[in-house]
Amino acid sequence: MKQDMILILDLGSSENSALARKIRALGTYSEIYPHDITIDEVKKLPNVKGIILNGGENNIVDGLKIDVCPEIYNSGIPVLAFNHDAAPCNIKIENNSYDDDTLKKFIFDTCGCEANWNMKNFISDQIELMRKEIGDKKVLLALSGGVDSSVVAALLIKAIGNNLTCIHVNHGLLRKGEPEQVVEVFGKELGANLIYIDAVDRFLDKLAGVEDPEKKRKIIGAEFIEVFNEEASKLNGIEFLAQGTIYPDIVESGTKTVKAVKSHHNVGGLPEKMSFKLVEPLKFLFKDEVRACGKELGLPDNMVYRQPFPGPGLGVRCLGAITRDRLEAVRESDAIIREEFKNAGLEGKVWQYFTLIPDFKSVGVKNNARAFEWPVIIRAVNTVDAMTAEIAHLDWALLDKITARITSEVKGVNRVCFDLSPKPTGTIEWE
Ligand code: XMP
Repeated sequence: MKQDMILILDLGSSENSALARKIRALGTYSEIYPHDITIDEVKKLPNVKGIILNGGENNIVDGLKIDVCPEIYNSGIPVLAFNHDAAPCNIKIENNSYDDDTLKKFIFDTCGCEANWNMKNFISDQIELMRKEIGDKKVLLALSGGVDSSVVAALLIKAIGNNLTCIHVNHGLLRKGEPEQVVEVFGKELGANLIYIDAVDRFLDKLAGVEDPEKKRKIIGAEFIEVFNEEASKLNGIEFLAQGTIYPDIVESGTKTVKAVKSHHNVGGLPEKMSFKLVEPLKFLFKDEVRACGKELGLPDNMVYRQPFPGPGLGVRCLGAITRDRLEAVRESDAIIREEFKNAGLEGKVWQYFTLIPDFKSVGVKNNARAFEWPVIIRAVNTVDAMTAEIAHLDWALLDKITARITSEVKGVNRVCFDLSPKPTGTIEWE
């Protein structure tokens, strides 16, 4: 292992992730653990050079103020405490200002860490770890083409080559060009063992006539698992399932003192249904680090810097019962808005932007004739954590251009509207 590590022990702070990110930004790797980790468990972790006790408002559990195992204080590993009076340790800070000077002094002078946290070292460490863990066994990955699964695939291809099998399920609800790009990048350029499943008819048939958003989501999730299971059961000798779990998924699903912040609504249920061991090489990375890792592995920018996209895909943007023609119109208008945002230099500047189509028509006029067609609605928002969001303030000239293109290039559309609602009251998606 190349990287030195600083452990953060959660003693009730809500700023554990912020602190971990700050330490990593200073060049040293850091992970967050529950307060009651034992010294034996600490010793099993690689290259631990220092421990930070991170106290905070959630430090009372079952009516008692929590502390770390006493051996942590006598282990010989330097300890720094933020907001934790009980600590008989090297350095105590009685406030929660993680100022750079205090941190740098502790990390580099007291603990003697090197600033060796970078993506090159992360990748070579992960490859070594995965080779050790997996040996010559076989691994399966559901490769959606999203950032996380793409980076997992690229890492595993480097680590174990053809012992990785990727399954890409095209459910017909992906954005324009996405299934083709998965085949191009992973199947052709990286030479992955890729199984491409065209399940478009199967999904759209199952969804036909279903109006209720929750039912649509459930059908998409369940069908995905079924298709994946069917394909997986045709393969022999697979022992591991790779997943694109990232650090916020783990931190947010609760340390011992923090309640789950947000429930995740990904297409779930795979690990419970199948008896695989899990490989999760990104489980200690924050999202921007996952992107940096993908970039380092040579994945294309439009894959690595892709905006968030819901698991049920365009299925929740073709409102009400999905029809093929309206789905196609959502896909085409989405491609146009992405292209125009890119041309206007807004890629990466606006957090999320997309189009959706409701299931009603309105009267318009095209080529001097009555046109009874759908409206396209533009949604463009900025947010930090997707829990609240504000609308992006766009230039009229850009909106004019997008409107002109959508109404002339997308079949069946005669109007374009712009959604002005922040979250709350609107959610980002409409379904
Ligand atoms: P809402 O609509 O809840 O969306 O304001 C917040 C963010 O989550 C994305 N989203 C999903 N992501 N699976 C996902 O992985 C889903 O089922 C899902 N639904 C919404 C949404 O695009 C936005 O970025």
